Amino acid sequence: MSLIMWNNGLSVNIRSVDSQHQRLVEMINKLYDSMKKGESNTTLTGILSDMAAYTHIHFKTEEELFAKYNYPQRDKHTAEHKDFVKTVNSFIEEFKSGRKTLSIDVMNFLTQWLSKHIQVSDKAYSSFLNSKGVV
Ligand SMILES: [Fe+2]
Repeated sequence: MSLIMWNNGLSVNIRSVDSQHQRLVEMINKLYDSMKKGESNTTLTGILSDMAAYTHIHFKTEEELFAKYNYPQRDKHTAEHKDFVKTVNSFIEEFKSGRKTLSIDVMNFLTQWLSKHIQVSDKAYSSFLNSKGVV
């Protein structure tokens, strides 16, 4: 069973961003499945690192749109991205050092952060960017 399911309620009405969000949802589910299968810490850390790398690409896509169209809430939004990157990087460091392993708490953090961020912060830019012709 998936931990997080994509549904149209998560759409921000911008095709490129929606498909990146769908990919992030897939990556979180892959991580969860691998955790349930009892994959090694090294494998799980590798999957989380791939997710972090993709998150970096995704955040860059959004932040470039904010800059291009001068999105009024860009600073606040970008700060949320930075906080998430910092937390995920600290998980990766802790997993690598063996101080911590992937747990349901970490999975819950990832899913809750992503769904809340999409539903609140990302949806807040939808109509602004749509009005600039970004769809
Ligand atoms: Fe975002």
